[in-house]
Amino acid sequence: MTQISKALCACGVAAGIAVALTACGTHSATTADPTPVFAPGSPTPGFSGGSVMMPMPAMTEPPSTTTASAPVAGDAVSIENFAFAPATLSVRAGTAVTWTNKDEEPHTVADKNGGFHSPGLGTGAVYTFTFTKAGTYDYVCTIHPFMHGTVVVTP
Ligand code: CO
Repeated sequence: MTQISKALCACGVAAGIAVALTACGTHSATTADPTPVFAPGSPTPGFSGGSVMMPMPAMTEPPSTTTASAPVAGDAVSIENFAFAPATLSVRAGTAVTWTNKDEEPHTVADKNGGFHSPGLGTGAVYTFTFTKAGTYDYVCTIHPFMHGTVVVTP
């Protein structure tokens, strides 16, 4: 019985069948979660029944979109599903950029360097800020600091 689990796991992970199946065999081409799940110090010589450390199932991924997205020209950003879209907006200096909250949750738009800061935006609320100086403006939602956005202002 234990020979089967050994045969299945050909990648050196010796923590159990579940680990072998999830970690090795499948084609998880996406970003693997970086949490080191098991300590390699457990000296159990192959499966002593009770103490099998089950790793965390990879279900708890935050809804963070990839931040490295190409700048999108325009003057409007929608706030939807706890994200700014487009994540990176490109505008000319002098442009009034409008954010619209399409979530049922309140959000804010706050420049990391303090250049602008919206009040709390309820559902459907709009915030407008006119960018007069060229530069790159990284902003967040202060309620949900994992929400990142960028406005690139060109001269
Ligand atoms: Co938010």
